[in-house]
Amino acid sequence: MRLPAAVRERVAAVHGGVGLPECLRLYDGWAACYEQDVEALEYRAPHLAAASLAFAFPAPPAEARLLDVACGTGLVARELHRRGFRCLHGVDGSSGMLERARSTGLYQELRQCVLGREPLPAPAGGFLCLTTRSNPSNLRYKAELEAVLEDLERQGAWQKVLVQEVERWEKATSEEESTQGTGYISGVVYVYRKCPVPPLEEG
Ligand SMILES: C[S@@+](CC[C@H](N)C(=O)[O-])C[C@H]1O[C@@H](n2cnc3c(N)ncnc32)[C@H](O)[C@@H]1O
Repeated sequence: MRLPAAVRERVAAVHGGVGLPECLRLYDGWAACYEQDVEALEYRAPHLAAASLAFAFPAPPAEARLLDVACGTGLVARELHRRGFRCLHGVDGSSGMLERARSTGLYQELRQCVLGREPLPAPAGGFLCLTTRSNPSNLRYKAELEAVLEDLERQGAWQKVLVQEVERWEKATSEEESTQGTGYISGVVYVYRKCPVPPLEEG
């Protein structure tokens, strides 16, 4: 199925390698029709993120504390809720996307936070999940995200649980973005675990 031109244009705009403030502004404007557009893209990230978290979690889901990073409108929370996860926190840089996420009623807490510019709020003893695309125009942003995650690991705040590369993440909007002519782009799911705070030494 061919993508409608309006969808292709909106997706291409945020995929177009614009700077961060402009990108977040585009997401603000996209929030109202984001879910409808990503359905046309056959976007699988929320399902894949939830499946990775369900695999990574040893504890009963209802007690698991999760931070949904760059939560958007809350599609990941919807998938997690279906799988029994209840203690969901979310952050996103776009107020428009956060407003939609808030309207789902699925998050215990939502905060505006620009990754790489502001510290990540960390529910104690929890996990975080984050997804991003691996198409050519997103590689710089992906490298920046990975640098942020590596920094959190170096500081001893979070520990890597899994990084899963996935093919057929969503439909490509152009031939140049498509993985080896498949018509789709690939993406990555990151799951990290919050490190316990070491007890203060006495004396
Ligand atoms: C493709 S959407 C994914 C949203 C959601 N995780 C999903 O799967 O539907 C990307 C989200 O990342 C947010 N975002 C992009 N760059 C960000 C940054 N540097 N800090 C925080 N949020 C960011 C956007 O506002 C947008 O909501």
